[in-house]
Amino acid sequence: MSEDFLSRILEEKSSANAFRSLRLSGSQADYVSNDYLGIVKNGLIEDLLRDSHFNHGSTGSRLLAGNYPLIEETEKEIARFHNSPAALIFNSGYDANFGLLASVARKGDLIIYDKLSHASIRDGIRQSFAESLSFAHNDLGELERKLKKGKSNSFVITESVFSMDGDMAPLAEMAVLCEKYKAHLIVDEAHATGVIGKRGEGLVQHLKLQDKCFARIHTFGKALGCHGAVILGSQTLRNFLINFCRPFIYSTAIPPASVAAIQASYKIFPGMDKERQTISNLITLFDQNGFKKSATPIQCFIMPGNEKIKQAAQHLLDNNLDARPILYPTVPKGEERLRIALHSFNTVEETIRLISALKSFSMNDDR
Ligand SMILES: Cc1ncc(COP(=O)(O)O)c(C=O)c1O
Repeated sequence: MSEDFLSRILEEKSSANAFRSLRLSGSQADYVSNDYLGIVKNGLIEDLLRDSHFNHGSTGSRLLAGNYPLIEETEKEIARFHNSPAALIFNSGYDANFGLLASVARKGDLIIYDKLSHASIRDGIRQSFAESLSFAHNDLGELERKLKKGKSNSFVITESVFSMDGDMAPLAEMAVLCEKYKAHLIVDEAHATGVIGKRGEGLVQHLKLQDKCFARIHTFGKALGCHGAVILGSQTLRNFLINFCRPFIYSTAIPPASVAAIQASYKIFPGMDKERQTISNLITLFDQNGFKKSATPIQCFIMPGNEKIKQAAQHLLDNNLDARPILYPTVPKGEERLRIALHSFNTVEETIRLISALKSFSMNDDR
């Protein structure tokens, strides 16, 4: 069977220096993973669940055999922690964003999204029958101009902490605009969960904006060290998603073993102040060396060109450090970068080594 049609497209990807391949992580210092608090690295959930036994299969969709007391109990606990009337667990953050946007925004509605929004948000928008408009990253003026074009229902979606830049959205100002134009604000807290706020509750609660949001998405696969996600909102929104959100309806539910891990993580991460402080100290170290790009664990080292940034990643590997290159088209052309994730388990010594390696690579590049 000929697969030339696939090979041709892959060759184009290769010649653009954008070919993706899988590689196993080695023993280098980890500046890649989203395990910001070291919950996975230090086996904290395994410790808590050591004597527990939970099924690894849920046997069906939540609407059929896949609903069980632990998942409903955990949703109630998560809703309470995040000050939300209701919560609905999803198999992943991708499913949550995709399913939410594809279902709540209907024909005749308008979705307005930050240009740097995650692929799961863009894919959900593409799947919905609503119109969509983007606004330049964190640009409130452009957001307002787009809001003026509002339709019967307008939705505004952003990430609270941006996955590739680590900067934060101006949520307070966005909430004011959404109120003014009667738009529904949706915030993806994937990279804020566990990290932002006194107890890792996320940026929305940190700014006391929970009542201004139509929906919030928290993912469990990053700082929380698990897998899955939750959509927070009203009981009406929860009922709507159960009835209309296709990734929720037509997929096997997340199993009890995964939900037990999520429940355990919610017992652990709110108290991880020391870990959040350690990350903050590493951000200060980046700042002192002129490398700070954001106030969150996500930093980046931008150097245009896919080939150049791959060389930078190799230079780090040669120094026993692991930070992966993020290539165009995942980020805009000219903004190719190393995405550097700082963790509570990264030492000052290895972070100084990382900064030196970045400096030496930049200097060699200038010559
Ligand atoms: C901002 C953002 N939203 C959603 C997701 C998807 O979450 P998950 O990995 O749980 O599918 C990611 C993960 O890369 C993300 O960075």
